[in-house]
Amino acid sequence: MPHHDRSSCGELRLADAGKEVTLAGWVDALRDHGEVLFIHLRDRSGIVQVVFTPESTPQAVCDKAAELKSEFCVQVTGRVIERAEGTDNPGIATGGIEVVAADLDILGRCAALPFQISEKSMTAGAAVKREETVGEDLRLQYRYLDLRRPNMQEHLIRRHRIVKSIRDFLDEQGFVEVETPMLTRSTPEGARDYLVPSRHFPKNFYALPQSPQLFKQLLMVGGMERYFQIVRCFRDEDLRPNRQPEFTQLDLEASFIDEAYLYTLFEELTARMFKIGGIDLSRPFPRMTWQDAMNSSGSDRPDLRFGMTFQDATDLFTQTRYGIFKQILERGGCIKGINVQGASERLSKNVLQNEYAKEIVPGFGAKGMTWMRVMDGGLESNIVQFFSEAERMGILERFDAKPGDVILMIADPSWSLVCTALGQLRLHLAHRLDMIPQGVYYPLWVTDFPLFEAADEGVTSSHHPFTMPDRTDFDPGNIDELLALRSRAYDLVMNGEELGGGSIRINDRGLQQRILQALGLGEQEVAEKFGFFLKALEFGAPPHGGIALGIDRVVAMILGAASIREVIAFPKNRSAFCPLTQAPSTVASAQLEELGLLDLGGDRPLPGAHAKKDQIETLSWVSRIGIGDPERPAIADALAQAAACADRVNRQASPQDAPLFRVAAVSNRFREGREARIHSLSENGELFKNAPAEKGGFFKTAAVLD
Ligand code: AMO
Repeated sequence: MPHHDRSSCGELRLADAGKEVTLAGWVDALRDHGEVLFIHLRDRSGIVQVVFTPESTPQAVCDKAAELKSEFCVQVTGRVIERAEGTDNPGIATGGIEVVAADLDILGRCAALPFQISEKSMTAGAAVKREETVGEDLRLQYRYLDLRRPNMQEHLIRRHRIVKSIRDFLDEQGFVEVETPMLTRSTPEGARDYLVPSRHFPKNFYALPQSPQLFKQLLMVGGMERYFQIVRCFRDEDLRPNRQPEFTQLDLEASFIDEAYLYTLFEELTARMFKIGGIDLSRPFPRMTWQDAMNSSGSDRPDLRFGMTFQDATDLFTQTRYGIFKQILERGGCIKGINVQGASERLSKNVLQNEYAKEIVPGFGAKGMTWMRVMDGGLESNIVQFFSEAERMGILERFDAKPGDVILMIADPSWSLVCTALGQLRLHLAHRLDMIPQGVYYPLWVTDFPLFEAADEGVTSSHHPFTMPDRTDFDPGNIDELLALRSRAYDLVMNGEELGGGSIRINDRGLQQRILQALGLGEQEVAEKFGFFLKALEFGAPPHGGIALGIDRVVAMILGAASIREVIAFPKNRSAFCPLTQAPSTVASAQLEELGLLDLGGDRPLPGAHAKKDQIETLSWVSRIGIGDPERPAIADALAQAAACADRVNRQASPQDAPLFRVAAVSNRFREGREARIHSLSENGELFKNAPAEKGGFFKTAAVLD
């Protein structure tokens, strides 16, 4: 069929009645009325009903149509007619017409489906039994079928339009899209890297970019002035519903600009993107400092769709006799609370005390929670009798409390703990009490973040180390001074979700070096990891800044999708696994060998290469159980049986089966984050001295050892 002869199923209308059309697509649903067969034919544009009837369709075509099943790929030729009165289907856009088939070609037969694809009923008003219960892994395993669902196609088409609007807008604004490398060095964004081994440089690795941060800055040094890229980024981090190991950013950088320029540019761009989803965002977007965000909602991405913001109650209790508050305030702590207006009926004493104070709030890291229900005659709670009259009056006034309200307070010596725990409580209650309006969008710029955060040893960057601090006269060795620095960074937040973030960058080599030094990097490490970048800053680097927007998150929000996986064609599942291709997977030993990965230990002697083989002594040593002479024969017998069993298993394995190799990275499995130590027993071979065989300088061990 020549392409131009094909009509789109979903575009046929009454005005087309009488036309001969050729359609191609998939059988969405069938209804067999004995002699007459109706099918819903679906292509990307929509659905149209096709009828095979002995009166108008040749018998041979009717016979072929009898073979049709759901999701067969077919081509149909026929005539568009108006549907008989009373048979139209307002549930589909083409419901006023149907196509009477004259010819049918089966282009591809379809095997039994793992789940239903059809979303539209063939009969007006009838409900489609959609299998909402289809597990996500099954959907991902057969993603090519899942993608046939109009809903998924709509997501991808809208995503395309949103991304296109970005390209069009930035092109208008003088930005140039430039691609940056995927095989690169580590770019620090706070996650672990995905590493790619190099064949040309055995035992050396590229890192996939966590973001193009350094390259976009180098493009500014290179005089590109305005760069953007729709770019895939890779981060090996703990997964959450709004995170994927590989995701797409709109990455942008510009020279000779300041924050105000980027705010205006991004507000216009964000408004355009949301407009594609029919959402109007009012501008300018409000701004809030990080300090205010934490103090009012306990989060650096405040959800402004509902109130319940924090009140500080510390000053009300400076003279208190209530022991817990007194001790906390003596230790320099603070007390903050929220008023859950009109919630006292839904938040009973039992729920407040036993669920929230004992279970839920401790789960947020706070030691406890103080609750008070506001009654006609004053406050009711298990501790209110310890409060003075002035304290009680102070609470009522501070929280603007009315009968029926519930006041919840958290006190702790740590300000940040009070904020984050109360912030989580605020969100928990908002969900439980259904306080979050849907279909509203509250953008917000969060600014003035701390430049550094305290870490186990010293400090780490809150964003990344290339962010300009608010002051440059700091001492890189003074942790208190470092923690007091603010950054010229900004996050774009909407409805409690971080959509994007960026900053004005450091363009001075000396300052950049001091920041890296403050992060505890030694001179050699700085030179090794960032030498090329510091060098670039020596050659007239312009002042510059930028931002990156999470495209998956933005699209999911615009489309109201439950997760970013719904707007990505082939996402990984919640465990970073691809059920379709079964990635990640083991690789053949030959591949590892080629990459120099079979012997990561370098020139060290292979563990246990010259091991002796007294199995019973080794067993005794490994299990820390002394084995006396009388027990030896029984143990020897048990070991022989185990060996025979292993032998049987080995013999059952097909001779063609390649042995499985997996080189486990040296890591400390017991204390995450601590460096692993290679035990001397593995160095001298003791550890594997019971291995049944050696081959090519390696020990063969049972899979369980891995
Ligand atoms: P940042 O790390 O804040 O900034 O990332 C920018 C945006 O990318 C999105 N994002 C993710 N989306 C899905 N899955 C993930 N795992 C994931 N991680 C991040 C978020 C986030 O706001 N180089 C800096 C930007 C800059 O400074 O210009 C950066 O990457 O929406």
